[in-house]
Amino acid sequence: MSSSSAERPLRVGVIGVGWAGQQHLAAYHDLPDSEIAAIAGLEADVLEETGARYGVDRLLPRWEHLVELEELDAVSVCVPTFLHAPITLAALERGLHVLTEKPMARNAAEADAMVAAAREAGRVLSVSFQRRGRGDVRKLKAILDAGRLGKPYYAKGYWMRRTGIPTMGSWFTRAELAGGGPLVDIGVHVLDYALFLLGGPKVTAVSAATYNLLGSAGFGSDPGSGKSGAVDPSTFEVEDLATVFVRLEGDATLLLEVSWAAHRDATDEYGITLFGTQGGAELRVINHAPSGSLRLFTDDDGVPAETRLVSPPGSGHHFVVEGFLEAIRSGDAAAHDGADAAEVTRVIDACYRSASERREITL
Ligand SMILES: NC(=O)c1ccc[n+]([C@@H]2O[C@H](COP(=O)([O-])OP(=O)(O)OC[C@H]3O[C@@H](n4cnc5c(N)ncnc54)[C@H](O)[C@@H]3O)[C@@H](O)[C@H]2O)c1
Repeated sequence: MSSSSAERPLRVGVIGVGWAGQQHLAAYHDLPDSEIAAIAGLEADVLEETGARYGVDRLLPRWEHLVELEELDAVSVCVPTFLHAPITLAALERGLHVLTEKPMARNAAEADAMVAAAREAGRVLSVSFQRRGRGDVRKLKAILDAGRLGKPYYAKGYWMRRTGIPTMGSWFTRAELAGGGPLVDIGVHVLDYALFLLGGPKVTAVSAATYNLLGSAGFGSDPGSGKSGAVDPSTFEVEDLATVFVRLEGDATLLLEVSWAAHRDATDEYGITLFGTQGGAELRVINHAPSGSLRLFTDDDGVPAETRLVSPPGSGHHFVVEGFLEAIRSGDAAAHDGADAAEVTRVIDACYRSASERREITL
């Protein structure tokens, strides 16, 4: 890591120029405390065009060369999931702070190694869970924290698509490269925002089932997704749907339902329904609407009451990138070591084990 970053913007390198990399680049570009020093990615044309857009001339095809650069303070890791751990470990060893995309890693063993390396290096390790920063999620969190719904005891978090496989045959659909299907891809977001809303309870047990009936039959690829590394379009090695019953400390429970491909309506929809002793809530986000439909259900002296809230939109990846830059500036890397995200990875490992052994797994 280069010295004397206190007085100047932090110099970052972004690895990956697909959808995720473009979100990180736009955020670093817009935020005053960062400067994009280098970009890496395998698609020469996209790299060239992206470099021109942001006025960056350090353009490298491979991540190995980017993490060697002397002038960097931090990197964003926006590449297929199998590369998250090796790049993070190499960057931390070079003394760089790391913001990695979700899922943190393919499994908990990789995630734990990343956390250990961040602690050893005394550097920040953050993971992109931008949905926590949505306006509707934050509004619901404030309502829950104020006790307006009483004690929450049951929730259902979900993310369902009809034809939402991120390009059949791309790295997303190959087990060794992605670590799993929708559970590890979008289920990780749902688990993150659901546990965040519920106040961060520990997961004590999971009972899961996964299915690969549609994807393996060739149904469900998202024609608009254009993910990198597509090979044989018939390659579909992961689940297309997962359902999980999650037990939480304090006896609350959470039902998690995620799918990339299912015979349902054509929307891409995620959200949560949540039941507390004094009221319930329902948040639905359809087709990535910046502001979802948020309703509260309460009882007004025996009369059922329904409140609709219109929240301001969140700032997407700007939320996580800004949080990452602030974490670096705070000088308190120990408080940002990726341990929470590693815990979510552990829960997902337990879900896959539960599905394969057909029994509840205690954590
Ligand atoms: N936070 C979110 O909501 C969100 C959304 C989409 C994707 N993601 C995550 O972001 C990551 C990337 O997903 P994507 O959709 O952008 O994928 P993508 O396939 O569109 O892009 C991947 C990028 O990685 C680059 N890459 C691959 N190998 C490389 C190497 N050896 N050196 C340098 N660059 C290399 C490719 O060139 C490509 O630019 C994944 O972990 C995914 O789960 C997160």
